[in-house]
Amino acid sequence: MKKLLLHLDTDPVPSAFDQAVAYDADVDNVISYGGATRDNVTAHVHGMIFTRGGKNLKNSAIFIGGSNVTASELVGNAVKKAFFGPVRVSVMLDPNGSNTTAAAIARKVMSNYDIKGKKVVIIGAGPVGQRSALYFLKEGAAQVVLTSRSLERTKVITNQMKKAYGVDVIPAETRSDEMVKELLKDAHVAITSGPAGVCVCPKSAWSSSTTLEVVADVNAVPPLGIEGMEVMDNGAEKEGVKFYGAIAIGNFKMKVHHGAVASLFDSNDQFLDETTIYDIACKIDNK
Ligand SMILES: NC(=O)c1ccc[n+]([C@@H]2O[C@H](COP(=O)([O-])OP(=O)(O)OC[C@H]3O[C@@H](n4cnc5c(N)ncnc54)[C@H](OP(=O)(O)O)[C@@H]3O)[C@@H](O)[C@H]2O)c1
Repeated sequence: MKKLLLHLDTDPVPSAFDQAVAYDADVDNVISYGGATRDNVTAHVHGMIFTRGGKNLKNSAIFIGGSNVTASELVGNAVKKAFFGPVRVSVMLDPNGSNTTAAAIARKVMSNYDIKGKKVVIIGAGPVGQRSALYFLKEGAAQVVLTSRSLERTKVITNQMKKAYGVDVIPAETRSDEMVKELLKDAHVAITSGPAGVCVCPKSAWSSSTTLEVVADVNAVPPLGIEGMEVMDNGAEKEGVKFYGAIAIGNFKMKVHHGAVASLFDSNDQFLDETTIYDIACKIDNK
């Protein structure tokens, strides 16, 4: 029986990237809709759950994407509501690649590196930074500091994280190189998940820290997020600090994305989100 993936994207035009990855993960046909909202997806979901029955339901699945994470999560809730008990299919939620990318960052950083008891600073408080913070805390980091250019904005985000996940992430702001330097002074790990094409961590900030051990960046567009980073860095040591660049992390992210899509077809009852996608990443070789 053919593997069918319903692709619901909250952006007006469904992502070509997410469709390409689905085919590479051996899906036979991707049925893509853009403009998905919590109010218009029920009929599409019924189209998937009422066309195949019993054991065959596992050959249909749903992928939810889009650049707006909150809108995608609302669609996720609407999809769950459209199911009837066991009459359901597996679902993967990865808006803007945030879950797969953050899982890849965390697993790369933790390659032969014990995060327990360490201080992690994450510069860039978008979905990728927020998810990364969750994973480092889950694995035992002593402190995770999350920054944007506004302390007020970061506080709103860390409060939301406390409500949603019960975690204590420390809010901070990084509006200048000096502020970054101050935060990294006693940090062990620095992650840059700021906007593409913006260097948010100058060399003076990371090279003056006497405690820093690992840095990782997901911005693949020059100038990169960390000065001195190269996109292909995959554990390269520079001045005693291990570097992981956007392509090394991105290559592993692709493996996690493929693995997660492929696993949707193992059963009809999975909901792959920020928690479960990380668990999948832990089972995949991160080299
Ligand atoms: N390599 C991969 O496979 C991959 C996959 C997906 C995404 N990405 C990359 O991951 C990065 C993060 O993605 P995202 O979706 O989380 O992005 P996002 O939603 O645009 O978030 C960027 C964050 O950076 C903050 N920021 C902007 N300028 C800053 C500065 N100078 N100092 C500190 N924080 C600053 C922004 O907050 P304020 O505006 O409030 O300051 C915002 O919190 C992007 O570069 C994206 O291209 C890479």
